[in-house]
Amino acid sequence: MVCLGNICRSPLAEGILQSKVHSDSIQVDSAGTAAYHVGELPDQRSIAVAKKYGIDLTKQRARKFSVKDFDTFDLIYAMDASNYQNILDLARNNEDEQKVKLILNEIDSESNSDVPDPYYGENDGFENVYQMLDTACAIIALKN
Ligand code: 4NP
Repeated sequence: MVCLGNICRSPLAEGILQSKVHSDSIQVDSAGTAAYHVGELPDQRSIAVAKKYGIDLTKQRARKFSVKDFDTFDLIYAMDASNYQNILDLARNNEDEQKVKLILNEIDSESNSDVPDPYYGENDGFENVYQMLDTACAIIALKN
């Protein structure tokens, strides 16, 4: 799960998907394409909305997406088109490129829509992001 800062959207996506997969054989993680917040806890607003639904994000710490993630993971979900492009720019070959998906295309494969960045907005932005990611992750969990 990849966003820009790895403090708002992708930590939520990681926590939500982790809560829906019950297999030890699936490794879920998140990262940011930027390094601004490396080492930090998720944003308090993400922590709060996740807690409301029984999901704990406080063990997560922000990290930057690395080219090595293409070797570790089979699927790489970008939260928006900008991060999708930033990840693709790091791809070394076609196999890497094929792993990268826009997460909301799991709900509607033609939509190419973005999970809106809630960082500068109000708290209801985090609830909105939570609901979008919950729907997308339910579909991902069913497929994996
Ligand atoms: P995220 O949100 O990409 O969902 O973690 C952001 C977090 C921090 C910043 C931008 C977006 N920032 O500019 O610091």
